[in-house]
Amino acid sequence: MSHDNESHDKVLSLTLRVWRQPTRLAKGEFKEYKVANISVGSSFLEMIDILNEQLVASNEEPIAFDHDCREGICGMCSMTINGIPHGPLQGVTTCQVHMRHFKDGETITLEPWRARPFPVIKDLVVDRTALDRVTQAGGFISIRTGSAIDANIIPIPKPVADRAMDAAECIGCGACVAACPNAAAMLFVGSKVAHFNSLPQGKAEKDQRTLAMVRTMDAEGFGNCTNYGECQAVCPKGNTLDFIAQLNRDYASAQFKNFFRSTGKQRVMGK
Ligand code: FES
Repeated sequence: MSHDNESHDKVLSLTLRVWRQPTRLAKGEFKEYKVANISVGSSFLEMIDILNEQLVASNEEPIAFDHDCREGICGMCSMTINGIPHGPLQGVTTCQVHMRHFKDGETITLEPWRARPFPVIKDLVVDRTALDRVTQAGGFISIRTGSAIDANIIPIPKPVADRAMDAAECIGCGACVAACPNAAAMLFVGSKVAHFNSLPQGKAEKDQRTLAMVRTMDAEGFGNCTNYGECQAVCPKGNTLDFIAQLNRDYASAQFKNFFRSTGKQRVMGK
């Protein structure tokens, strides 16, 4: 028999310390649960499903947690595992973590994202609509539906297309905010801005987009980047601080142009 099959037969017994909070305003607390016979081949979310079946069978409230695709695409499975958003592995979401990365007898602590702009709704579920409002402020291009020209007739150099696509990898999970001591959303906003501002289709609204997204980010209570780099370390898509650097450049340039536009002053250099 293959080594793979042998290792999938292995099972774990675990202690789970889970943050339980019935409502947004209720006082939360950690509760401890035991699970046994967890196959090392199960995913982390399957392990929580098993615990929830146990809780339902004993007439207890199951643990609320967000999930949708379970394939690392939607960014819904936001939770902190042993203090790290999305858990101990780099470059994956919680739903892509498998139990083979944990030890038999281990205690695992599960918490919701901890950040002021993400209030807890219930247990491990937080309200991440602040990120939606930042996106609504500028994470789009304006075009009349049905009248867009074929994108393939606009030539885009490969390095530019690659950078835009790298930035577009962001799935808006909010791990960057949860990991940052400042609760900064600058890796999220930088990724959105870099995606749209890099492409010819997004250039017309570049300044307006950058200013609107940064202002909304501030208004929603997200902090500023002070170069901790935690966001980059936990981003499941590997988005890097380069996008924050581009956001800072685009924001400075947009503010500069805005100043001259609003005061009617002429720039001495350039046109
Ligand atoms: S459930 Fe969709 S990314 Fe995890």
